This record gives sequence, C-alpha cells and structure tokens, in this order.
Amino acid sequence: MSTNKGFIIWFTGLSGSGKTTIARILEKRVQAAGRHLESLDGDVVRTHLSKGLGFSKEDRDTNIRRIGYVGHLLQRNGVGVVCSAISPYRATRDELREMVGADFIEVYADCPLEICATRDGKVEMYAKAMRGEIKEFTGVSDPYEAPEKPELHLHTHQETPEESADRVMRYLVEHGYVAPVAVVAAAR
Ligand code: ADX
Repeated sequence: MSTNKGFIIWFTGLSGSGKTTIARILEKRVQAAGRHLESLDGDVVRTHLSKGLGFSKEDRDTNIRRIGYVGHLLQRNGVGVVCSAISPYRATRDELREMVGADFIEVYADCPLEICATRDGKVEMYAKAMRGEIKEFTGVSDPYEAPEKPELHLHTHQETPEESADRVMRYLVEHGYVAPVAVVAAAR
C-alpha cells in the first residue's frame, strides 16, 4: 500500500467550528504515524500570502484559490496538506476539487452558529458581527454554503476535537494515505 501519496484535507466551516483545532491534532497524529503534514490556515495565510485581502466574495475567492494553489503544488509532489479556511462558497471549493482530483478530501466542520459564537477567542468577534460592527461576517451577514457531498461530515458540537481527528485519521488509513501499522505503533 502506498504511503507517500499526496493529499489535501480541506476543512470548511464557520469561524469557531473547530477547523484549526482539529487540524493541529491531525498534524501531530499524522507525524506520529510517520508522515509530515503541512498546514495552510486561513488566519495565518492572511498574514502573508493573502495579506491585504478582505472578506468580499472576490477577496475570499482569491484567498481560497491561493491556498488551493499552494496546497496543490505540495500535494502533487507527494506531500500531505491540511487547509483550514472558512471557504464559504461551494463553487470555489468545487473548483479546487476539480483541480486536485481524487486526493481532495473535503471535511465539513459542522457546528451551529450559536455554539461557534461561544467558543474561545470568538465571543467578542461574533458579538461585534451581530451588532453590525464587523460587516460581511460569515453566517451572520454573509453566506456560508455547506458542502453537499463532503468526504467527511463532522458534527463538532457533538464530538470532541480528538474524536473528529480520529475520524479523519480513519479516512486517511482506509484510503491508503497513512499506513495502518504506523497508526497502531503511534498509539502505543
Ligand atoms: S475565508 O472566507 O477567506 O475562507 P478565512 O478562513 O481566511 O476566511 O478567515 C476567517 C477568519 O477571519 C475568521 O476565523 C475570523 O477570525 C476572521 N474574520 C474577520 N472578519 C471576518 C468576516 N467578515 N467573516 C469571517 N471571518 C472573519
């Protein structure tokens, strides 16, 4: 079984839905299983690669295409990549799926907005968005188009981040991206 096949785990979901938290756990688990996992996080990418972009549809699409472009360069060279950005538009995500092909793994971090708005570091931002002090805020005053057929649908308000990461790891093992033996060894 090939264990050096490149892949992109593409998280999508509201701010506070758990994308970054789960991605961090995955980085450790994939590394413990003997592979490197490169991470492209929306919040981080917006400090360099996408610096200066805002939250209009056009700017979000540019951000997502940049992340997808870099992710694809890595993936086609055999690297495992995890991307975590809201990526609210279905058509833009589908464009990336088209570009990458079978190794694009769309993971929906599904969490009700009321819960996202209570999560660590997000309370003030959602309160401002609800008062209209931040415009074009995803889920409040801007659209979020949920995936119709994601490879994985995580209910992040009903499972812990570790359980969600386990589900992604299981997918990676079942599809030959991470060797099962390595996962067992890493768990000991
Ligand atoms: S995306 O829409 O282009 O995919 P991205 O994931 O990079 O968004 O950035 C989202 C992060 O930016 C949020 O987690 C939040 O911290 C911050 N943010 C600031 N303004 C907004 C906004 N108007 N809508 C959503 N997130 C915002």
